[in-house]
Amino acid sequence: MKVFITRKLIGNAEKLLLAKGFHVKVFNEDRTITREEFLSEAKDSDALISLLTEKIDKDIIDNLANCKIIANCAVGYNNIDVEYAKKKNIVVTNTPEILTDATADLTVALILACARRLHEGELMIRSNQFTGWKPQMLLGLEMKNKTIGIIGAGRIGFAVAKRLKAFDTKIIYFDKIKNQMLEKQLKARKVSLNLLLKKADFISVHLSLSGVTHHILNGTNLNLLKPTAVIVNTSRGEVIHEPVLINLLKQKKIFAAGLDVYEGEPNINPDLLSLENVFLLPHIGSATVETRSAMAELCAKNVIRVLSGRKALTPVL
Ligand code: GLV
Repeated sequence: MKVFITRKLIGNAEKLLLAKGFHVKVFNEDRTITREEFLSEAKDSDALISLLTEKIDKDIIDNLANCKIIANCAVGYNNIDVEYAKKKNIVVTNTPEILTDATADLTVALILACARRLHEGELMIRSNQFTGWKPQMLLGLEMKNKTIGIIGAGRIGFAVAKRLKAFDTKIIYFDKIKNQMLEKQLKARKVSLNLLLKKADFISVHLSLSGVTHHILNGTNLNLLKPTAVIVNTSRGEVIHEPVLINLLKQKKIFAAGLDVYEGEPNINPDLLSLENVFLLPHIGSATVETRSAMAELCAKNVIRVLSGRKALTPVL
């Protein structure tokens, strides 16, 4: 059985697969595989371990004659046409739970970075502009007694809320369904999206990308944000209509934004680069040694199970 991995991963994934006697091929270049390379490498594979950077659409799936499983090394799987894969009897798996804490930690780091203007402070030092302590230099926002708005109250949303509750904050959230744990443990209140945007001081977005959530934050509702609001996105860039956010930041209609994800990633809208009130990260929510190793291993375990005729551990449908 052949397993194709679209990029070198850390941890024991390869070892686990080799120990089962699979033939493992890894795309070993330090760049995203092109569509053509992917097609030619993957076409006779029995299993794929893919990344969120590979678009696996109908055409690609039609060319995967032997494939039984696509193990996506990410919690999000909007890069894969899952419905079509299912029709073709290909199991799609993701890596939920194991990346929740790493992503929540990074989200809190982004929120604090925005609130306390860390990026401007660092820049001041690096450009030799720090001439001494000043009473009014780089004044930021405090967390205590503020309202946190969690958009998308799944595992990561909950983990972020739990961390931020420790700052003596109040939690409100928007989701399709009630999150009992958030309400019971953190006394969070479910509200409409518009009310959340109006009331929250710090907004954190944790939505998976779908037809419904694409541009769910847009020109109509982002105008509801407070002038002191901070909005942070560590989910998918496309849930926010980015040009609208950029205009709000340009006109200083909100305090700041923190982004780990972008529309059209890895291309970054050049307007973002010149703004002081935005903190930018290169999609590193799950990027810790522990988490990335666990993600790769979970992919390998899913592959092993499916290729040996068992149920995947974390199928997406
Ligand atoms: C990262 O964005 C992931 O979906 O795992």
